[in-house]
Amino acid sequence: MNIRLARPEDLSGMQAGNLVNLPENYLMKFWMYHIITWPQLSFVAENDKGHIVGYVLAKIDEESEEKGGEMHGHVNSISVLRSYRRLGLAKRLMMLSQDAMASIYKANYVSLHVRKSNIAAIGLYRDTLGFEVAEVEKKYYGDGEDAYVMKLFLKNQS
Ligand SMILES: CC(C)(COP(=O)(O)OP(=O)(O)OC[C@H]1O[C@@H](n2cnc3c(N)ncnc32)[C@H](O)[C@@H]1OP(=O)(O)O)[C@@H](O)C(=O)NCCC(=O)NCCS
Repeated sequence: MNIRLARPEDLSGMQAGNLVNLPENYLMKFWMYHIITWPQLSFVAENDKGHIVGYVLAKIDEESEEKGGEMHGHVNSISVLRSYRRLGLAKRLMMLSQDAMASIYKANYVSLHVRKSNIAAIGLYRDTLGFEVAEVEKKYYGDGEDAYVMKLFLKNQS
């Protein structure tokens, strides 16, 4: 298994994984925008045949003035194909992206949304990576499910 930065030619494989793994799907221009604008923040895991089996898609955001105006990272989407789960791939993808957010963009924290019912993802974020629930966004998802907004403060900004 190889984990490396995502490139524009990986986008169709990333999008295909997203379609089978998650109900939140995006147009190709959304994927492309992220890779072009923040090329150091999105990563892929590829198997021995060079197929994309996991990805993390991330960006940098600036808070509104009233929230403090801080730069922070945001994870838009992460998924790993079913037969490659529980191998530590998502953890490695997240840590690479988080490290780049802190070192390259001096991001203070990383945020993301997760469905309240997503036990696997909450386990990854909270138990393995140390995220905490910052707030609940009621009916955030298209089907009416609430989201946890989770945050992790980033250390070692050098
Ligand atoms: C969430 C997801 C990305 C995790 O990917 P993964 O590569 O299997 O995760 P990892 O192997 O890195 O797991 C790291 C830790 O996360 C937690 N975790 C992962 N899957 C879990 C599960 N099914 N139940 C509970 N905890 C889980 C565990 O703490 C795990 O550590 P451990 O294996 O040492 O116990 C994957 O399940 C997935 O693609 N799900 C569908 C898409 C999705 O929900 N994405 C997140 C949207 S917010």
